[in-house]
Amino acid sequence: MLDVKTTRETLERHSQSHVLQFFDELAPARQQTLLEQIATIDFDKVDGWVEHYVRTKPTVQSAGDIQPPQIVPARPADDQTAAAHAAALAEGEELLAAGKVAAFTVAGGQGTRLGYEGPKGCLEATPVAKKPLFRVLAEQILAAGRRAGKPLPWYVMTSPANDVATRAFFRQKKFFGLAPEDVFFLVQGTMPAFDFDGKILLTEKGQLALSPDGHGGCLPALRRSGALDDMARRGIELISYFQVDNPLVRCIDPLFLGLHAARHAEMSAKALPKRDPMERLGNFCVVDGKVTVIEYSDMPEDLARACTEDGRLKFSAGSIAIHILSRSFVERLTAGDACELPLHRAEKKVPYVDQAGVTVTPDKPNAVKLEQFVFDALPLAGETVILETLRSEEFSPIKNATGEDSLATSLHDQVRRAAEWLEEAGVAVPRDADGQIAAAIEISPLLADCADALVGKIPPDLDLSAGQAVYLSPAGVES
Ligand code: UD1
Repeated sequence: MLDVKTTRETLERHSQSHVLQFFDELAPARQQTLLEQIATIDFDKVDGWVEHYVRTKPTVQSAGDIQPPQIVPARPADDQTAAAHAAALAEGEELLAAGKVAAFTVAGGQGTRLGYEGPKGCLEATPVAKKPLFRVLAEQILAAGRRAGKPLPWYVMTSPANDVATRAFFRQKKFFGLAPEDVFFLVQGTMPAFDFDGKILLTEKGQLALSPDGHGGCLPALRRSGALDDMARRGIELISYFQVDNPLVRCIDPLFLGLHAARHAEMSAKALPKRDPMERLGNFCVVDGKVTVIEYSDMPEDLARACTEDGRLKFSAGSIAIHILSRSFVERLTAGDACELPLHRAEKKVPYVDQAGVTVTPDKPNAVKLEQFVFDALPLAGETVILETLRSEEFSPIKNATGEDSLATSLHDQVRRAAEWLEEAGVAVPRDADGQIAAAIEISPLLADCADALVGKIPPDLDLSAGQAVYLSPAGVES
C-alpha cells in the first residue's frame, strides 16, 4: 500500500490536500487506486503549471520574426525538382526494403467532438466494406510491407481510457492480418484537470480528473514503454507518424521518407494549402528562424488572414499531422526522461465532485486541461522537410459528428478519390448532372494506395454503369 501520510504531506506542500478529502469514506481498494493516481503526478511541476497555465492564460508569443516556411511542392515544377523527387522516392523504397521504417499511430484521443463511444479507431469509416479506421491503416501497413518485401512494425499509442478496448479490438479482428508480434501498443500519460483556482478536480470521491497528456505525450511514451528500444532492436531508423482519424492518409509514403532522409532531417511534416484563413489546422511558420506550427486556436487572426503582396495567403500551409521522425531524434529528445514540450491550455467542461461530495455537471467550462503537442518538437529538430500534399489525395479526417470533417464528408471524399484513381486508369465512372459520382466505390489498400499502384490491377470487366456499390480488393470485385 502506498503511504497515505507521505502523500498527504506532498499534497499539503502543493496546496492540493483536498483530493484526499473523502479518503476515509473509500473502500481500501479505491483508496489504493486514488493513491496510485496521485503518485503518477509530478508535483514538483504542478505549482509551475498552476501559475503559468491555469491561473493565468499564457499569451501567445507574438514577438519575434514570423515568416512563412519553405515548402517542397507536391508536384515538381521543373526538371531539377522532378529528379530530386525521383531520387528521394528510390531512397524511400530502399529504406523500406531494408526494414528501417516503422508506422506510428496516435490513437489516444478522447474523440469528444465526434461523440463516438469507444476508441475512434474502431469507428466504421469506409463507404462500402465499412472498415474500421484501424483496418484502413493496418491494410496500408500490410501492403507497404508486402511491396517492400519486409513487414513494417506498427506502434499504436492508446490512452489509459481506451487501451484495453483497443487491444481487445485488435485481438478480435486478428490484428487485421498483421503478425501480432509486429504490433506494439504503448499507453500515453495523463495530466490532471484543474479548476480555475488551480485545484485538481475529482470526478468521483476516489478518482482524480485525469485526461490524456496530448499527442506530444507520445515522445516520452515511446521511451517509457520500451518502444524505442524495440525499434532499435529491429533496426528502425525512421518513424512514420500519423493520426487515427484520417482514412485518406498515406501511412507509408516512400517519397516523403526519401526526402526526409536525403535532407538528413530530424522531423518532417506534410502540409496542404488551407481551405480558408481560419481553417482548424495548425499553421506552419518560421519563428525566429525555427520551423514551428502555431495551432489554429493560438494563431492571431490578423496573422492567419495576412496576405502577400500578390494577394495570396501568407501563412497558407496547414498541418495535417503527418510526420517523419528520426528515431535518433526521439532518442535525443527523451534522453534522461527530460522531454519538455510546452503545454497548451484548454478550458473544458469537466464533471466534478464538490466540497460537499456532490457531483456537479457544469454547463460551461469550469476546468483547465493541459496538453503537449507533437509538432512542438519541430523547432527542436536540426533539419525539417515540409512536403506539400494534395487535400483530395490525402486528407479528409473524421473529427465532428456532423458538417465539416465528419464521417459523411470523409465517405464522400473516399468515394471521390477512388473514382478519380479509376478514371485516371481509363475506367468510366458514372456521374450525375452535378458531376457527383453516382456509385459508392471503395478500393482496398491491399490492392492500391495511390493511382499509380492501380495500374494493371483493374479487372477488365469492371462495369460501374449500373451505379451499384463496388468494392475492389485483391480478391476481385464485389458488388
Ligand atoms: C489536430 C492538430 C492540428 C492539425 C489537425 C489535422 C492538435 C492539437 N492539432 O487537430 O494542428 O491540423 O489535427 O487533422 O493535435 N491524440 C492522442 N492523444 C491525445 C490527444 C490526441 O493520441 O492526448 C490523437 C487523437 O487520437 C487523434 C489526433 O491525436 O488521432 C488528433 O487529435 P485531435 O484532438 O482530434 O486534434 P485536432 O484538434 O483535430
